[in-house]
Amino acid sequence: MKRIYISIVVAVIFSFFFVSCYYDNEEALYPTLSNTCDTTNVTYSGKIAPILNNSCTGCHSGSIPSGSILLTNFASVQTIASSGLLMNALNGNGVNVMPPSGSLPACNKTQFQIWVTAGIPNN
Ligand code: HEC
Repeated sequence: MKRIYISIVVAVIFSFFFVSCYYDNEEALYPTLSNTCDTTNVTYSGKIAPILNNSCTGCHSGSIPSGSILLTNFASVQTIASSGLLMNALNGNGVNVMPPSGSLPACNKTQFQIWVTAGIPNN
C-alpha cells in the first residue's frame, strides 16, 4: 500500500515537468507577437515599441545597454533604424541576429520593415 502511494506521488511530481513545458512557447507567452500579427496600421506606439519592450529592452536599456544600443526611447530607436542597423540586426544581416536567442517571427520583421519604409514615423 505504501509503495503504491509513493509511486502515485512520484508520478504526480513528474507530470508537473511535462505539463509545465506546454506554456513554454512563444505563441502562448506573447499572443500579440505572432498569432494576431497585423501588418496594417503599423505605428511606433502601437506595434514597434511593444515588440521592442517584449523582445529587446531586457538587454538594450539602462545606463549601460548591450552593444551601446538603447531601445527605450524613440530618438535612439530612430537613429539606429535610420542607419539601417536595426533591420540588419533583426535579419542577422552582417551582424549578429537580434534577439540573440533567435530571430523574431517573420511577421514582426515585416512590421518593422513597413515602419522603416514609411519613413520611421513617431506615431
Ligand atoms: C539577451 C540580450 C539581448 C537581447 C534580448 C537583444 N539584444 Fe541586441 N545586442 C545584445 C548584445 C550583447 C549586443 C552587442 C554584441 C553583438 O552585437 O552581438 C547587441 C547588439 C545589438 C545591435 C548592434 C549590432 C551591431 O553589431 O552593431 C542592435 C542594432 C541590436 N542589438 C538590436 C536589438 C533588437 C532590435 C533586439 C530585439 C528584437 C535585441 N537587440 C535584443 C544583446 C541583446
